[in-house]
Amino acid sequence: MTRVRFVSADGHKVSEVEAQAGERLLDVAQAAGQPLEGTCEGQMACSTCHVIVAAEDFGRLPPSEEEEDLLDLAAHVTRYSRLSCQITLTAELERLTVSIPAAAHNMQGR
Ligand code: FES
Repeated sequence: MTRVRFVSADGHKVSEVEAQAGERLLDVAQAAGQPLEGTCEGQMACSTCHVIVAAEDFGRLPPSEEEEDLLDLAAHVTRYSRLSCQITLTAELERLTVSIPAAAHNMQGR
């Protein structure tokens, strides 16, 4: 069991949910009602599962090169951006905190 904290785009709403080790962050986010599309369902073809990892957590979650390339297509990318479909939760990620970008839109940012 691990806990994940989701922070709204404006920073005003924080929700903490429990998840099982081995679950994908995207699935946990969607089950918690977070507005992430995840259109390609983890096939690394959409970037609509973009989240921004808290700076203090990012060192534990470096993206792959392929993921960095796809993130270039997402809106509101920061240096702490990740694709939530590529993050598998583990006990080591206890209290992982992620923000939902202001607009979780499609890969053209519309
Ligand atoms: S769901 Fe499409 S890249 Fe993550």
